[in-house]
Amino acid sequence: MNIETIKTFQTLKTPFYYYDTTLLQATLQAASQAANEHGFNLHYAIKANANPHILDIIQSHGIGADCVSGNEVAQAVASGFPSEQIVYAGVGKSDEEIRLALEKEIFCFNCESLPEIEVINMLAGEMGKKASVALRVNPNVDAHTHHYITTGIEENKFGFYLYDLDHAITACREMEHIKLIGLHFHIGSQITDLTVFRGLCLRVNEIQSRLKEQGIILPHVNFGGGLGINYDCPTCGLIPDFASYFQIFADFFEAQPGQQLHFELGRSLVGQCGSLISRVLYVKEGKHKKFVILDAGMNDLLRPALYQAFHRIENLTSVGEHEKYDVVGPICESSDCFGKDRELPLTNRGDLIAIHSCGAYGEVMASRYNLRELPGSYFSR
Ligand code: LLP
Repeated sequence: MNIETIKTFQTLKTPFYYYDTTLLQATLQAASQAANEHGFNLHYAIKANANPHILDIIQSHGIGADCVSGNEVAQAVASGFPSEQIVYAGVGKSDEEIRLALEKEIFCFNCESLPEIEVINMLAGEMGKKASVALRVNPNVDAHTHHYITTGIEENKFGFYLYDLDHAITACREMEHIKLIGLHFHIGSQITDLTVFRGLCLRVNEIQSRLKEQGIILPHVNFGGGLGINYDCPTCGLIPDFASYFQIFADFFEAQPGQQLHFELGRSLVGQCGSLISRVLYVKEGKHKKFVILDAGMNDLLRPALYQAFHRIENLTSVGEHEKYDVVGPICESSDCFGKDRELPLTNRGDLIAIHSCGAYGEVMASRYNLRELPGSYFSR
């Protein structure tokens, strides 16, 4: 961050999310280019960051949207994402949400159970429509990521289990208002070992060849999201390696003729462009350690408290000798801690602190716990 930006921060009410839109544009450009090279369809997982200004920028790159609630579908449409590029997932879609998505004529419902598809069939019938559906399959592939964000193994609540798939396909084909168009997978988030995606491709190949033996070929395969970012060293991985990621699917997935591939990336598109900026309220000497107490808390950024997530922390306004601090927030919970034993320059009341790599699952997961204000957002020019 340059001096001018930091000077501007000094005039602003903290805490707030700061988004580097130049980086966001460059990231979107790199991702679209890498996807286009293979003719892959890219959808942005809105759950990662639904800030309307961020959505405007993303949709201007011609990327589709992946939604997980009726409100996300409505927001995607309002932000200008074309309906025919909107997919809608989630294990618990309400009738009201399903009706809204049918009304907006989205591209596809990613469905997770037969009872859900039966309801979609019924509601589509009432509305005189036919719903396009992809079956989310739980491929039983371990993503080797934090257990709270792993989704593709059999103990998770997500998707159809492999042994249920044939029955689900037959059932869908008997429903008058359902058009089965594809298979959907999503095995977890913050996946940094790309061989995991190769494993996914191989498993999907097995599934497809088994279906093919029964004469079933579906025109769309959606591989979900999950590509991770470098939290340890954001400057080493400001733009994730989209080319290598998509190349894996080009190399290892055996697409059937004419079959279209879809991806739903969230974190890798927006993660690195956002930082949470806060002020030091107090520096407190404990018995064994020093605490930097920020005016930002776990209500502003939940990831460290919820997943023990690591985010790089930087003092933007002090330089010099380093000391170790626990960097904490003002909330009445011990988990309200952004980092333990972090090396920072000698820190004082009023210093500005940046917590990096917060563009994904930061602002969207903020709450008003302790009746605190929601954090604001500012954008680079
Ligand atoms: N598609 C589906 C069906 C998903 O459930 C998700 C994320 C994505 C796509 C996007 O995944 P991404 O490319 O962002 O990894 N709050 C957690 C992450 C939860 C991810 C939930 N699903 C965190 O802060 O790490």
